[in-house]
Amino acid sequence: MDVLKKFFSSFSGKFANRASRVLFAPPKTETTAHATSEVEIPGVDNLPDDELEQLNKLLPWAAFVLDRNGRKFGAAYSSTKRNLPQAMPDPRIVELDRRIPLRDLTVFEVGCFEGIHTAALAMRAKHVLACDSRIENVVKTIVRCAMYGTSAHIFRWNAEEDLPIGVSLDCDVLHHVGVLYHLTDPVGHLKTLLPRVRRAVMLDTQIAPEDAKVLTYESGGRTYRYHRYQEAGRKEPFAGMLDHAKWMFKSDLLAQLSEGGFGSIDVAKFQMQRNGPRIRIYATRDSDR
Ligand SMILES: C[S@@+](CC[C@H](N)C(=O)[O-])C[C@H]1O[C@@H](n2cnc3c(N)ncnc32)[C@H](O)[C@@H]1O
Repeated sequence: MDVLKKFFSSFSGKFANRASRVLFAPPKTETTAHATSEVEIPGVDNLPDDELEQLNKLLPWAAFVLDRNGRKFGAAYSSTKRNLPQAMPDPRIVELDRRIPLRDLTVFEVGCFEGIHTAALAMRAKHVLACDSRIENVVKTIVRCAMYGTSAHIFRWNAEEDLPIGVSLDCDVLHHVGVLYHLTDPVGHLKTLLPRVRRAVMLDTQIAPEDAKVLTYESGGRTYRYHRYQEAGRKEPFAGMLDHAKWMFKSDLLAQLSEGGFGSIDVAKFQMQRNGPRIRIYATRDSDR
């Protein structure tokens, strides 16, 4: 009997501890966390601490990865945003590479931010093009890729504007993560880019909540529904470039991909987030162009 009592009291003790951890857990922050880096960063792993500190102060980093010694390369944006080490490689890229082996392909990444995804893509693909509208993000991406010992063609392009001069955006695979919902004309943007994609798109974006107030706008002579989202402005490293963004409704987004010739559309993830729903799509053409 004593043994049973002991067993139950230890069980309820553990349970109580766990419950109190759940009830009194600190506010939830971003969850992309990896405690140690399995990926070498040749330009950083052997830097003396004071040199790495200097590198981390040199540029306005807003995210970080860990090096082989568990040291930060980059910096957290705030105590709640990009405050944990970012995954390297990002699991979405591992999955993309599993679905569409990138080794012989050209990937175009829109909104490269600080190059954490760019470096992972460049380690896998034959060639990577990467753009961002913020010149400081372009510079950080160049540095991040160089430190990882890999390279890409990294250039400034504001996707709200005309196509860049002197760079072809033709690619086999379009990597489009966290950017569509920062644009004022997402439909026009897709209509511009999709014909340039020979094979597949990975698109990860917020979309309009189904119960959102519906507004409409015109793009290419047709009317589209959207949900208006207020943007934070040029100084915020993650934000769109203009005062607002238009969030597409899920069915309209899928229709754009389908009209763009992507016959196979896999909605691999759908998640309700603080700001609204987010969707991850892997879309492929029936045959290469
Ligand atoms: C939310 S962050 C996502 C960054 C990265 N793709 C990721 O998933 O971690 C949005 C990125 O898109 C860039 N961006 C925003 N508006 C853009 C535009 N009009 N043209 C090109 N890049 C833009 C931002 O500078 C920022 O790097």
